[in-house]
Amino acid sequence: MKILLTGANGFVGARIRAAAPVICAPSLRGAEKEDIDRLIDTVQPDAILHTAAISDIGACAKDPEGSYHANVLVPEYLAKAANGAKLVLFSSDQVYSGAKGDKPFTEDDVATANLYAEEKLEMENRVLAIDPNAVMLRATWMYDMPMFGVPNRSNLITMFLNAAITQKPLALSKEEFRGITYVREVAEQTLQAVNLPGGAYNFGSEADVSMYALAELFMKKTGMKLNLQEKSGGENLWMNCAKLKNAGGGFETTAEGLATCIEDYNLSLLGQ
Ligand SMILES: NC(=O)c1ccc[n+]([C@@H]2O[C@H](COP(=O)([O-])OP(=O)(O)OC[C@H]3O[C@@H](n4cnc5c(N)ncnc54)[C@H](OP(=O)(O)O)[C@@H]3O)[C@@H](O)[C@H]2O)c1
Repeated sequence: MKILLTGANGFVGARIRAAAPVICAPSLRGAEKEDIDRLIDTVQPDAILHTAAISDIGACAKDPEGSYHANVLVPEYLAKAANGAKLVLFSSDQVYSGAKGDKPFTEDDVATANLYAEEKLEMENRVLAIDPNAVMLRATWMYDMPMFGVPNRSNLITMFLNAAITQKPLALSKEEFRGITYVREVAEQTLQAVNLPGGAYNFGSEADVSMYALAELFMKKTGMKLNLQEKSGGENLWMNCAKLKNAGGGFETTAEGLATCIEDYNLSLLGQ
């Protein structure tokens, strides 16, 4: 299968590129419909994995026009150009940023609370209107260890390591649940997502433990000490991923994924 990958130099794209042979699209910054038509016409892909985006909530708020182009128009151009290629596009759990309730959110519980989330939701709707066979991956916050030559960003594991090194207080809640996912699992699952029926999927680890318990798990598994403090309250950002599981996909839970990452990188060596 000929797979075209956008955002190949990004946080997620770099891991997908490392996991499978793909054709890397050039940067789509400022791309217009004709540029994307030309790209698809040249590559003639069987599937398109679209990770390119302005993925930072604050950056979107600061640049509404630029982020609308990146997060809504570029995916729409891809959908119009796809010519039968299976489309798999990254959305975000931020589509639940305004959702309330004491249970993990299902795909129908959307409620947006920021511009990035609104753009992702509009992108989903516009693309699915053009191609109902397209797959929308509502991804969680993701993490990986910093590595030479591979892009990274501030994430769960760097937050814990930073707190362990500096011993600055880390205040987390026993009442806050958040789906957070090991990005290597995301890369593998994204490649499988070409087999999913069209629609939107909650795509990541289900939050089986609180943020506070996740930090405790980090300490237990690595032997590193955190100056962990308990704070009250917190907003849940968690997803029910039954739809993905029923379609043959699925992730480790938040606690399992963290344990896998710690094992993959032998992080227990740091606490010895
Ligand atoms: N990282 C997370 O924790 C997270 C959480 C939920 C959802 N997501 C979603 O998952 C996808 C991948 O996230 P990521 O963290 O890999 O993203 P990223 O690293 O921030 O960005 C991916 C790529 O997007 C391209 N890009 C940046 N600005 C652009 C613009 N104005 N127009 C077009 N392309 C642009 C860049 O490629 P070039 O330099 O080649 O232009 C960049 O390498 C995104 O759709 C994101 O919204 C991410």
